[in-house]
Amino acid sequence: MTTIPLGIHDLSFATTHYALDHAVLAERLGVDPDKFYLGIGQDKMSVAAADEDIVTIAAAAAQPILERNGVDNIRTVLLATESGVDQSKAAGLYLHPLIGLPNTARVVELKQACYGGTAGLQFAAGLIARDPSQRVLVIAADIAKYELDSPGEPTQGAAAVAMLVSADPAILRLEPHSGLYSADIMDFWRPNYRTAAMVDGKTSVNAYQKATQEAWTDYRRRGGRDLTEFAAFCYHQPFTKMAYKAHRHLLESQGHTADPAEIDAVIRHTTSYNRTVGNSYTASLYLGLASLLDNADDLTGKPLAFISYGSGSVAEFFSGTVEPGYREHLRTEANRQAIETRAPLDYDHYRELHEAQSPSDGMYHATPEETGRPFRLAAISGHKRIYESR
Ligand code: HMG
Repeated sequence: MTTIPLGIHDLSFATTHYALDHAVLAERLGVDPDKFYLGIGQDKMSVAAADEDIVTIAAAAAQPILERNGVDNIRTVLLATESGVDQSKAAGLYLHPLIGLPNTARVVELKQACYGGTAGLQFAAGLIARDPSQRVLVIAADIAKYELDSPGEPTQGAAAVAMLVSADPAILRLEPHSGLYSADIMDFWRPNYRTAAMVDGKTSVNAYQKATQEAWTDYRRRGGRDLTEFAAFCYHQPFTKMAYKAHRHLLESQGHTADPAEIDAVIRHTTSYNRTVGNSYTASLYLGLASLLDNADDLTGKPLAFISYGSGSVAEFFSGTVEPGYREHLRTEANRQAIETRAPLDYDHYRELHEAQSPSDGMYHATPEETGRPFRLAAISGHKRIYESR
Protein backbone atom coordinates (compact mmCIF):
# COMPACT_ATOMS: atom_id res chain seq x y z
CA MET A 1 0.00 0.00 0.00
CA THR A 2 1.50 3.33 -1.04
CA THR A 3 1.79 5.97 1.68
CA ILE A 4 3.10 9.08 -0.06
CA PRO A 5 1.52 12.16 1.56
CA LEU A 6 -1.47 13.17 -0.57
CA GLY A 7 -4.90 14.62 -0.01
CA ILE A 8 -6.92 17.83 -0.13
CA HIS A 9 -4.75 20.85 -0.86
CA ASP A 10 -7.55 23.39 -1.32
CA LEU A 11 -11.34 23.31 -0.92
CA SER A 12 -13.94 25.81 -2.07
CA PHE A 13 -17.71 25.81 -1.79
CA ALA A 14 -20.52 27.49 -3.74
CA THR A 15 -24.27 27.41 -3.50
CA THR A 16 -27.27 28.82 -5.31
CA HIS A 17 -28.77 32.31 -5.46
CA TYR A 18 -31.92 31.45 -3.46
CA ALA A 19 -32.71 29.95 -0.05
CA LEU A 20 -36.13 28.76 1.09
CA ASP A 21 -36.75 29.08 4.82
CA HIS A 22 -38.21 25.94 6.41
CA ALA A 23 -40.65 28.15 8.33
CA VAL A 24 -42.24 29.05 4.96
CA LEU A 25 -42.42 25.38 3.97
CA ALA A 26 -43.81 24.30 7.35
CA GLU A 27 -46.57 26.91 7.18
CA ARG A 28 -47.60 25.87 3.66
CA LEU A 29 -47.49 22.16 4.48
CA GLY A 30 -49.31 22.72 7.77
CA VAL A 31 -46.66 20.99 9.87
CA ASP A 32 -44.97 22.06 13.10
CA PRO A 33 -41.72 23.84 12.08
CA ASP A 34 -39.95 21.92 14.85
CA LYS A 35 -40.37 18.78 12.76
CA PHE A 36 -37.86 20.42 10.41
CA TYR A 37 -35.70 22.37 12.89
CA LEU A 38 -35.42 19.59 15.49
CA GLY A 39 -36.80 16.44 13.83
CA ILE A 40 -34.58 16.46 10.72
CA GLY A 41 -32.23 19.30 11.75
CA GLN A 42 -32.80 21.67 8.81
CA ASP A 43 -33.42 25.45 8.89
CA LYS A 44 -33.28 26.40 5.20
CA MET A 45 -32.46 24.91 1.84
CA SER A 46 -30.63 26.33 -1.17
CA VAL A 47 -32.76 26.48 -4.32
CA ALA A 48 -31.43 27.00 -7.85
CA ALA A 49 -32.62 30.10 -9.72
CA ALA A 50 -34.04 29.68 -13.23
CA ASP A 51 -30.59 30.42 -14.70
CA GLU A 52 -28.58 28.11 -12.40
CA ASP A 53 -27.71 24.44 -12.67
CA ILE A 54 -24.89 22.17 -11.54
CA VAL A 55 -22.54 23.68 -14.14
CA THR A 56 -22.97 27.23 -12.83
CA ILE A 57 -22.43 26.24 -9.19
CA ALA A 58 -19.54 23.91 -10.08
CA ALA A 59 -17.84 26.78 -11.94
CA ALA A 60 -18.37 29.10 -8.96
CA ALA A 61 -16.83 26.53 -6.60
CA ALA A 62 -13.84 25.75 -8.83
CA GLN A 63 -12.92 29.27 -9.97
CA PRO A 64 -11.30 30.35 -6.65
CA ILE A 65 -9.23 27.14 -6.64
CA LEU A 66 -7.76 27.94 -10.05
CA GLU A 67 -7.23 31.60 -9.12
CA ARG A 68 -5.17 30.62 -6.09
CA ASN A 69 -3.32 27.59 -7.41
CA GLY A 70 -3.12 28.05 -11.19
CA VAL A 71 -3.70 25.17 -13.61
CA ASP A 72 -0.19 23.73 -13.98
CA ASN A 73 -0.12 19.94 -13.73
CA ILE A 74 -3.88 19.62 -13.36
CA ARG A 75 -4.09 16.58 -15.62
CA THR A 76 -7.53 15.32 -14.57
CA VAL A 77 -10.86 16.95 -13.76
CA LEU A 78 -13.48 14.70 -12.15
CA LEU A 79 -16.95 16.14 -11.74
CA ALA A 80 -19.31 14.03 -9.64
CA THR A 81 -23.03 14.67 -9.88
CA GLU A 82 -26.38 12.92 -9.96
CA SER A 83 -28.17 15.98 -11.35
CA GLY A 84 -26.21 16.21 -14.59
CA VAL A 85 -27.33 18.28 -17.57
CA ASP A 86 -26.50 15.86 -20.40
CA GLN A 87 -26.59 12.10 -20.86
CA SER A 88 -23.36 12.02 -22.89
CA LYS A 89 -21.21 15.12 -22.47
CA ALA A 90 -19.35 15.49 -19.17
CA ALA A 91 -20.54 18.61 -17.30
CA GLY A 92 -16.90 19.52 -16.55
CA LEU A 93 -16.34 20.35 -20.23
CA TYR A 94 -18.69 23.34 -19.97
CA LEU A 95 -16.25 24.76 -17.41
CA HIS A 96 -13.45 25.28 -19.94
CA PRO A 97 -14.55 28.69 -21.24
CA LEU A 98 -16.08 29.73 -17.91
CA ILE A 99 -13.06 29.28 -15.65
CA GLY A 100 -10.14 28.51 -17.99
CA LEU A 101 -9.61 24.82 -17.39
CA PRO A 102 -6.49 23.53 -19.12
CA ASN A 103 -6.98 21.65 -22.40
CA THR A 104 -4.29 19.20 -21.32
CA ALA A 105 -6.51 17.52 -18.72
CA ARG A 106 -8.90 14.57 -19.06
CA VAL A 107 -12.42 15.55 -17.99
CA VAL A 108 -14.88 12.94 -16.82
CA GLU A 109 -18.26 12.90 -15.05
CA LEU A 110 -18.83 10.40 -12.25
CA LYS A 111 -22.13 9.05 -10.92
CA GLN A 112 -23.15 6.90 -7.99
CA ALA A 113 -25.75 8.92 -6.12
CA CYS A 114 -24.22 10.86 -3.20
CA TYR A 115 -21.11 8.66 -3.21
CA GLY A 116 -19.74 10.09 -6.50
CA GLY A 117 -17.61 12.82 -4.85
CA THR A 118 -15.79 10.25 -2.76
CA ALA A 119 -15.19 8.12 -5.85
CA GLY A 120 -13.61 11.24 -7.38
CA LEU A 121 -11.41 11.81 -4.34
CA GLN A 122 -10.22 8.20 -4.23
CA PHE A 123 -9.60 8.03 -8.00
CA ALA A 124 -7.63 11.27 -7.69
CA ALA A 125 -5.54 9.74 -4.89
CA GLY A 126 -4.76 6.77 -7.14
CA LEU A 127 -3.64 8.99 -10.01
CA ILE A 128 -1.41 11.06 -7.73
CA ALA A 129 0.11 7.96 -6.16
CA ARG A 130 1.13 6.95 -9.71
CA ASP A 131 2.59 10.37 -10.51
CA PRO A 132 2.92 12.78 -7.54
CA SER A 133 3.69 15.72 -9.84
CA GLN A 134 0.09 15.68 -11.10
CA ARG A 135 -2.85 17.44 -9.45
CA VAL A 136 -6.52 16.52 -9.82
CA LEU A 137 -9.47 18.89 -9.62
CA VAL A 138 -12.42 17.06 -8.05
CA ILE A 139 -15.79 18.80 -8.13
CA ALA A 140 -18.95 17.52 -6.47
CA ALA A 141 -22.06 19.45 -7.53
CA ASP A 142 -25.72 18.67 -7.05
CA ILE A 143 -29.21 20.09 -6.86
CA ALA A 144 -31.42 17.80 -4.77
CA LYS A 145 -35.02 17.67 -5.94
CA TYR A 146 -37.94 15.66 -4.57
CA GLU A 147 -41.64 15.79 -5.40
CA LEU A 148 -43.57 18.78 -4.03
CA ASP A 149 -45.56 17.94 -0.89
CA SER A 150 -43.62 14.69 -0.35
CA PRO A 151 -41.71 13.70 2.83
CA GLY A 152 -38.44 14.26 0.95
CA GLU A 153 -39.30 17.88 0.03
CA PRO A 154 -37.80 19.49 3.17
CA THR A 155 -34.54 17.61 2.52
CA GLN A 156 -33.83 19.34 -0.81
CA GLY A 157 -30.81 21.61 -1.21
CA ALA A 158 -27.95 22.48 -3.54
CA ALA A 159 -24.21 23.10 -3.44
CA ALA A 160 -20.92 22.43 -5.13
CA VAL A 161 -17.58 21.72 -3.49
CA ALA A 162 -14.36 21.84 -5.49
CA MET A 163 -11.19 20.22 -4.14
CA LEU A 164 -7.66 20.34 -5.46
CA VAL A 165 -6.12 16.96 -4.68
CA SER A 166 -2.34 16.75 -4.69
CA ALA A 167 0.81 15.39 -3.08
CA ASP A 168 1.93 17.33 0.04
CA PRO A 169 -1.55 18.73 0.69
CA ALA A 170 -2.05 21.87 2.78
CA ILE A 171 -5.37 20.90 4.41
CA LEU A 172 -6.03 17.18 4.81
CA ARG A 173 -3.77 14.18 4.35
CA LEU A 174 -5.70 11.07 3.35
CA GLU A 175 -4.83 7.89 5.19
CA PRO A 176 -4.44 4.74 3.09
CA HIS A 177 -7.07 2.63 4.84
CA SER A 178 -10.58 2.55 3.50
CA GLY A 179 -13.62 0.36 4.16
CA LEU A 180 -16.22 -0.37 1.50
CA TYR A 181 -19.75 -1.73 1.29
CA SER A 182 -21.85 -1.99 -1.88
CA ALA A 183 -25.23 -3.64 -2.34
CA ASP A 184 -28.10 -3.46 -4.85
CA ILE A 185 -30.95 -1.73 -3.02
CA MET A 186 -33.85 0.45 -4.22
CA ASP A 187 -33.84 3.09 -1.48
CA PHE A 188 -33.47 6.16 -3.72
CA TRP A 189 -33.18 6.44 -7.51
CA ARG A 190 -34.09 8.69 -10.42
CA PRO A 191 -35.11 7.17 -13.76
CA ASN A 192 -33.92 9.10 -16.84
CA TYR A 193 -37.40 10.47 -17.55
CA ARG A 194 -37.77 12.15 -14.15
CA THR A 195 -36.34 15.38 -12.70
CA ALA A 196 -37.33 14.55 -9.10
CA ALA A 197 -35.90 11.56 -7.24
CA MET A 198 -37.93 8.54 -6.17
CA VAL A 199 -37.30 7.52 -2.59
CA ASP A 200 -38.37 5.01 0.01
CA GLY A 201 -37.47 7.26 2.95
CA LYS A 202 -37.51 4.79 5.84
CA THR A 203 -35.71 2.11 3.82
CA SER A 204 -33.07 4.68 2.89
CA VAL A 205 -32.41 5.62 6.51
CA ASN A 206 -31.98 1.96 7.48
CA ALA A 207 -29.85 1.23 4.42
CA TYR A 208 -27.58 4.19 5.26
CA GLN A 209 -27.08 2.92 8.81
CA LYS A 210 -26.40 -0.67 7.78
CA ALA A 211 -23.97 0.43 5.05
CA THR A 212 -22.12 2.66 7.54
CA GLN A 213 -21.67 -0.23 9.94
CA GLU A 214 -20.51 -2.60 7.18
CA ALA A 215 -18.06 -0.07 5.72
CA TRP A 216 -16.68 0.56 9.22
CA THR A 217 -16.21 -3.19 9.76
CA ASP A 218 -14.28 -3.42 6.48
CA TYR A 219 -12.18 -0.35 7.42
CA ARG A 220 -11.17 -1.96 10.73
CA ARG A 221 -10.49 -5.32 9.13
CA ARG A 222 -8.04 -3.56 6.83
CA GLY A 223 -6.11 -2.01 9.70
CA GLY A 224 -7.90 1.34 10.15
CA ARG A 225 -8.01 3.33 13.38
CA ASP A 226 -10.19 2.63 16.41
CA LEU A 227 -13.45 4.61 16.75
CA THR A 228 -12.15 6.34 19.87
CA GLU A 229 -9.22 7.94 18.00
CA PHE A 230 -11.20 10.37 15.83
CA ALA A 231 -11.61 14.05 16.71
CA ALA A 232 -14.69 14.32 14.48
CA PHE A 233 -16.86 12.26 12.14
CA CYS A 234 -17.89 13.80 8.81
CA TYR A 235 -20.98 11.98 7.57
CA HIS A 236 -22.90 12.39 4.36
CA GLN A 237 -25.80 14.61 5.45
CA PRO A 238 -29.09 14.20 3.57
CA PHE A 239 -30.39 16.11 6.59
CA THR A 240 -28.21 16.92 9.58
CA LYS A 241 -30.05 14.66 12.04
CA MET A 242 -28.98 11.71 9.85
CA ALA A 243 -25.36 12.20 10.92
CA TYR A 244 -26.37 11.98 14.60
CA LYS A 245 -28.59 8.95 13.95
CA ALA A 246 -25.91 7.09 12.00
CA HIS A 247 -23.24 7.82 14.56
CA ARG A 248 -25.41 6.61 17.41
CA HIS A 249 -26.13 3.45 15.42
CA LEU A 250 -22.43 2.90 14.70
CA LEU A 251 -21.41 3.36 18.34
CA GLU A 252 -24.11 1.02 19.61
CA SER A 253 -23.28 -1.60 16.97
CA GLN A 254 -19.72 -1.66 18.34
CA GLY A 255 -20.83 -1.96 21.97
CA HIS A 256 -20.06 1.67 22.91
CA THR A 257 -22.51 3.72 24.96
CA ALA A 258 -24.04 6.43 22.79
CA ASP A 259 -23.79 9.45 25.08
CA PRO A 260 -25.65 12.36 23.37
CA ALA A 261 -23.12 14.97 24.56
CA GLU A 262 -20.21 12.91 23.25
CA ILE A 263 -21.95 12.39 19.93
CA ASP A 264 -22.68 16.10 19.70
CA ALA A 265 -19.02 16.94 20.36
CA VAL A 266 -17.80 14.93 17.34
CA ILE A 267 -20.63 15.80 14.93
CA ARG A 268 -21.89 19.33 15.73
CA HIS A 269 -19.33 21.38 13.81
CA THR A 270 -19.77 19.29 10.66
CA THR A 271 -23.44 20.26 10.41
CA SER A 272 -23.51 24.10 10.50
CA TYR A 273 -23.44 24.61 6.73
CA ASN A 274 -25.60 21.61 5.79
CA ARG A 275 -28.31 22.76 8.22
CA THR A 276 -28.92 25.83 6.05
CA VAL A 277 -27.91 24.50 2.61
CA GLY A 278 -29.79 21.18 2.67
CA ASN A 279 -28.86 18.00 0.89
CA SER A 280 -26.25 18.64 -1.77
CA TYR A 281 -25.88 14.92 -2.56
CA THR A 282 -22.25 14.43 -3.76
CA ALA A 283 -21.09 17.67 -2.15
CA SER A 284 -22.74 17.11 1.22
CA LEU A 285 -19.92 15.17 2.94
CA TYR A 286 -17.33 17.73 1.81
CA LEU A 287 -19.52 20.63 2.83
CA GLY A 288 -19.52 18.91 6.23
CA LEU A 289 -15.71 18.95 6.15
CA ALA A 290 -15.67 22.67 5.25
CA SER A 291 -18.07 23.37 8.10
CA LEU A 292 -15.90 21.43 10.55
CA LEU A 293 -12.66 23.12 9.50
CA ASP A 294 -14.25 26.59 9.58
CA ASN A 295 -16.00 26.19 12.93
CA ALA A 296 -14.01 23.83 15.18
CA ASP A 297 -11.06 24.75 17.40
CA ASP A 298 -7.60 23.91 16.11
CA LEU A 299 -7.61 20.43 14.53
CA THR A 300 -3.91 20.29 13.61
CA GLY A 301 -2.68 16.71 13.45
CA LYS A 302 -6.07 15.30 14.47
CA PRO A 303 -7.57 12.26 12.74
CA LEU A 304 -10.97 12.73 11.10
CA ALA A 305 -13.37 10.02 9.99
CA PHE A 306 -15.33 10.26 6.72
CA ILE A 307 -18.47 8.29 6.01
CA SER A 308 -19.72 8.54 2.45
CA TYR A 309 -23.07 7.02 1.49
CA GLY A 310 -24.73 6.98 -1.90
CA SER A 311 -28.11 5.31 -2.23
CA GLY A 312 -28.40 2.33 -4.43
CA SER A 313 -25.91 1.79 -2.66
CA VAL A 314 -22.20 2.34 -2.01
CA ALA A 315 -20.66 3.37 1.31
CA GLU A 316 -17.06 4.11 2.22
CA PHE A 317 -15.45 4.73 5.60
CA PHE A 318 -12.04 6.40 5.33
CA SER A 319 -9.87 8.73 7.36
CA GLY A 320 -7.44 11.60 7.15
CA THR A 321 -5.35 13.87 9.34
CA VAL A 322 -5.43 17.64 9.40
CA GLU A 323 -2.22 19.29 8.20
CA PRO A 324 -0.27 21.85 10.26
CA GLY A 325 -1.01 25.41 9.07
CA TYR A 326 -4.32 24.32 7.46
CA ARG A 327 -6.14 27.39 8.74
CA GLU A 328 -4.17 29.71 6.47
CA HIS A 329 -5.66 27.85 3.49
CA LEU A 330 -9.31 27.88 4.52
CA ARG A 331 -11.95 30.00 2.83
CA THR A 332 -14.07 30.59 5.90
CA GLU A 333 -15.20 34.11 5.04
CA ALA A 334 -16.09 33.21 1.44
CA ASN A 335 -18.00 30.13 2.64
CA ARG A 336 -20.04 32.18 5.09
CA GLN A 337 -20.68 34.84 2.44
CA ALA A 338 -21.94 32.22 -0.02
CA ILE A 339 -24.54 31.20 2.54
CA GLU A 340 -25.45 34.61 3.95
CA THR A 341 -25.86 36.36 0.60
CA ARG A 342 -28.56 33.98 -0.68
CA ALA A 343 -31.79 35.76 -1.55
CA PRO A 344 -34.90 34.68 0.38
CA LEU A 345 -37.37 32.84 -1.84
CA ASP A 346 -41.13 33.15 -1.52
CA TYR A 347 -43.24 30.03 -1.70
CA ASP A 348 -45.02 30.75 -4.99
CA HIS A 349 -41.78 31.40 -6.84
CA TYR A 350 -40.27 28.27 -5.26
CA ARG A 351 -43.14 26.17 -6.66
CA GLU A 352 -42.81 27.84 -10.06
CA LEU A 353 -39.08 27.05 -10.19
CA HIS A 354 -39.74 23.50 -9.03
CA GLU A 355 -42.33 22.86 -11.73
CA ALA A 356 -40.43 24.54 -14.61
CA GLN A 357 -39.59 22.18 -17.47
CA SER A 358 -36.53 22.39 -19.69
CA PRO A 359 -37.54 23.35 -23.25
CA SER A 360 -37.15 20.42 -25.63
CA ASP A 361 -38.22 21.89 -29.02
CA GLY A 362 -34.74 22.98 -30.13
CA MET A 363 -35.79 26.65 -30.48
CA TYR A 364 -33.97 29.58 -28.84
CA HIS A 365 -35.08 30.04 -25.22
CA ALA A 366 -33.48 32.83 -23.20
CA THR A 367 -33.36 32.01 -19.49
CA PRO A 368 -34.86 34.52 -17.03
CA GLU A 369 -32.10 36.61 -15.48
CA GLU A 370 -32.22 35.82 -11.78
CA THR A 371 -28.95 34.74 -10.24
CA GLY A 372 -26.52 37.16 -8.67
CA ARG A 373 -23.80 34.48 -8.73
CA PRO A 374 -20.77 34.65 -11.08
CA PHE A 375 -22.04 32.22 -13.75
CA ARG A 376 -25.42 31.69 -15.36
CA LEU A 377 -27.22 29.57 -17.90
CA ALA A 378 -28.10 32.29 -20.43
CA ALA A 379 -30.15 30.26 -22.90
CA ILE A 380 -30.93 26.91 -24.41
CA SER A 381 -30.78 26.99 -28.19
CA GLY A 382 -30.68 24.20 -30.76
CA HIS A 383 -30.69 21.81 -27.78
CA LYS A 384 -27.42 23.40 -26.60
CA ARG A 385 -26.83 24.98 -23.22
CA ILE A 386 -25.28 28.45 -23.42
CA TYR A 387 -23.48 29.66 -20.31
CA GLU A 388 -22.07 33.08 -19.51
CA SER A 389 -19.87 34.71 -16.89
CA ARG A 390 -21.27 37.83 -15.31
P1 HMG B 1 -41.05 11.87 7.48
O1 HMG B 1 -41.41 10.44 7.39
O2 HMG B 1 -42.03 12.88 7.03
O3 HMG B 1 -40.60 12.27 8.92
O4 HMG B 1 -39.72 12.15 6.67
P2 HMG B 1 -40.79 11.51 10.32
O5 HMG B 1 -42.21 11.41 10.63
O6 HMG B 1 -39.93 10.28 10.33
O7 HMG B 1 -40.12 12.62 11.25
C1 HMG B 1 -38.77 12.91 11.13
C2 HMG B 1 -38.23 13.14 12.54
O8 HMG B 1 -38.83 14.33 13.05
C3 HMG B 1 -38.59 12.02 13.53
O9 HMG B 1 -37.48 11.89 14.42
C4 HMG B 1 -39.77 12.60 14.28
O10 HMG B 1 -39.92 12.07 15.58
C5 HMG B 1 -39.38 14.07 14.36
P3 HMG B 1 -36.69 10.47 14.53
O11 HMG B 1 -37.68 9.46 14.93
O12 HMG B 1 -36.14 10.20 13.12
O13 HMG B 1 -35.62 10.77 15.51
N1 HMG B 1 -40.49 14.99 14.54
C6 HMG B 1 -40.45 16.06 15.36
N2 HMG B 1 -39.48 16.52 16.17
C7 HMG B 1 -39.75 17.65 16.89
N3 HMG B 1 -40.94 18.31 16.83
C8 HMG B 1 -41.93 17.88 16.04
C9 HMG B 1 -41.71 16.70 15.26
N4 HMG B 1 -42.45 16.00 14.37
C10 HMG B 1 -41.70 14.97 13.95
N5 HMG B 1 -43.09 18.54 15.99
C11 HMG B 1 -37.74 11.07 5.84
C12 HMG B 1 -38.43 11.64 7.04
C13 HMG B 1 -36.27 10.81 6.14
C14 HMG B 1 -38.40 9.76 5.43
C15 HMG B 1 -37.88 12.08 4.66
O14 HMG B 1 -37.25 13.29 5.00
C16 HMG B 1 -37.30 11.59 3.35
O15 HMG B 1 -37.91 10.80 2.64
N6 HMG B 1 -36.10 12.12 2.97
C17 HMG B 1 -35.44 11.75 1.74
C18 HMG B 1 -34.61 10.48 1.91
C19 HMG B 1 -33.43 10.67 2.82
O16 HMG B 1 -32.98 11.77 3.07
N7 HMG B 1 -32.84 9.54 3.28
C20 HMG B 1 -31.69 9.57 4.13
C21 HMG B 1 -30.80 8.34 3.98
S1 HMG B 1 -30.45 7.95 2.28
C22 HMG B 1 -29.21 9.08 1.80
O17 HMG B 1 -28.65 9.75 2.62
C23 HMG B 1 -28.92 9.21 0.34
C24 HMG B 1 -29.49 10.44 -0.32
O18 HMG B 1 -28.75 11.58 0.04
C25 HMG B 1 -29.54 10.26 -1.83
C26 HMG B 1 -28.25 9.89 -2.56
O19 HMG B 1 -27.47 9.05 -2.14
O20 HMG B 1 -28.10 10.41 -3.66
C27 HMG B 1 -30.94 10.67 0.08
